[in-house]
Amino acid sequence: MRLEGKIAVVTGAASGIGLAVAKRLAAEGAKIIIGDRNADGVEEVAAAIGQAATAIALDVADENSCKAIVDRAVSLHGGLDILCNIAGVLDFGRFAEVDRTRWDRVISVNLTGVYHMCHAAMPHLIERRGNIVNMASAAGLVGVPYNSAYTASKHGVVGLTRALALEFSKEGVRVNAICPGGVNTPMVQQAPPENIDWQMVMRSASWLDGGAMAMPEDIADSVAFLASAEAKRITGVALSVDGGQTAG
Ligand SMILES: NC(=O)c1ccc[n+]([C@@H]2O[C@H](COP(=O)([O-])OP(=O)(O)OC[C@H]3O[C@@H](n4cnc5c(N)ncnc54)[C@H](O)[C@@H]3O)[C@@H](O)[C@H]2O)c1
Repeated sequence: MRLEGKIAVVTGAASGIGLAVAKRLAAEGAKIIIGDRNADGVEEVAAAIGQAATAIALDVADENSCKAIVDRAVSLHGGLDILCNIAGVLDFGRFAEVDRTRWDRVISVNLTGVYHMCHAAMPHLIERRGNIVNMASAAGLVGVPYNSAYTASKHGVVGLTRALALEFSKEGVRVNAICPGGVNTPMVQQAPPENIDWQMVMRSASWLDGGAMAMPEDIADSVAFLASAEAKRITGVALSVDGGQTAG
């Protein structure tokens, strides 16, 4: 119960890592406000978690929607301690096929969405010396072929994390990112396009467990740690949770 009495907002909570994070933070004692573009899905997650959870439809690409979830957390519970930016989209394809529509969609969710949420939440986090955990990716630290927009967006999340960690250190707000390798969620269960060299994409998978993907709960462990007081001296890190994928 490391998060007893804490108020947390989690984006992307209808599926995969966000769902595991929502369950984990609630199990650690936090009151959670969970948002997702999949409104029915996030309602179901809140119902399954019970009293600790409140669901709200959320589009992180929309600034007003991001303000609304933060306002909801503050009006319901009187403040905000933890922001977990987990919502994201993946888009594999050859660079020549990544037109402005595809580029803008990935950047607006994965990077501008994190900006919107941090911007809306920061004044409240300052009040309670809270913290932010952003879900970046191994693709935020190294290049991933055939994944240009996603890789650029996740490098941006790592950069934004570091900049905010330093800027808000005086106010006592910690800002960290997690960089998972492959995690077994619906995001990676979609079939990849046939015209990309998948061997190249997969050339450095996890070194642990015979290359097996992590489970969403493995990533939630790291989110709960960074969000808790156990990580009180940790800010500005991009924590690799990738089975050694980016180690060499
Ligand atoms: N699965 C992996 O291998 C992996 C690896 C590294 C990083 N990540 C990152 O982890 C995060 C979660 O991914 P996941 O694997 O759980 O994927 P997922 O597809 O299972 O879940 C993503 C969730 O985000 C929601 N979402 C998408 N766009 C949204 C928007 N505009 N507004 C609000 N919600 C939106 C979706 O509805 C979905 O519920 C993403 O940021 C992803 O980039 C995933």
